[in-house]
Amino acid sequence: MLFGVVCVSDRCSQGLCEDKSGQLIKELVSSLGTAEEYVLVPDEKEQIENALISLCDKGVDVVFTTGGTGFAPRDITPEATKSVIEREAPGIAEAIRVKSLEITPKAMLSRAVSGIRGKTLIINLPGSPKAVREALEFVLPVIPHAVEVLSGDTLNCGGKY
Ligand code: MTE
Repeated sequence: MLFGVVCVSDRCSQGLCEDKSGQLIKELVSSLGTAEEYVLVPDEKEQIENALISLCDKGVDVVFTTGGTGFAPRDITPEATKSVIEREAPGIAEAIRVKSLEITPKAMLSRAVSGIRGKTLIINLPGSPKAVREALEFVLPVIPHAVEVLSGDTLNCGGKY
């Protein structure tokens, strides 16, 4: 399974801080596949869109973004994601919020979205390493099945019908 990671951060892209969340995503997905595709962009809609499109064109199975999902004036990751996806997959973002709300009420401040472009699943994650870890622990177990179904190789889900 191929993963892409897009870190969206003005400060990290200017070299003012280190992207710990992107590194953590790479580490956490390593049990399922490789995350060789990594892009660091500022909170600029067009640059985020271009990064996402380019990773999808490369045939990456899942792209995780980190950062830019909140209420800060320049947070624009959900809007950039919505403009490149062809089909919404709201259950993933909803599940992350529900699960995260058990940990902190601040989870309601993430506007993260998830969706599908071609055969690539795009999932927004918040920017903090803490939030990334909490979300991925919950989401990663479902990813192999999501990718299998997306590839069109699955005849049934769970063999129950
Ligand atoms: N989700 C989890 N699981 N854990 C967290 O600590 N922090 C929240 C939220 N989601 C958090 C979380 C906070 S404080 C904010 S402001 C929003 O994510 C948006 O974060 P972002 O702007 O870095 O994307």
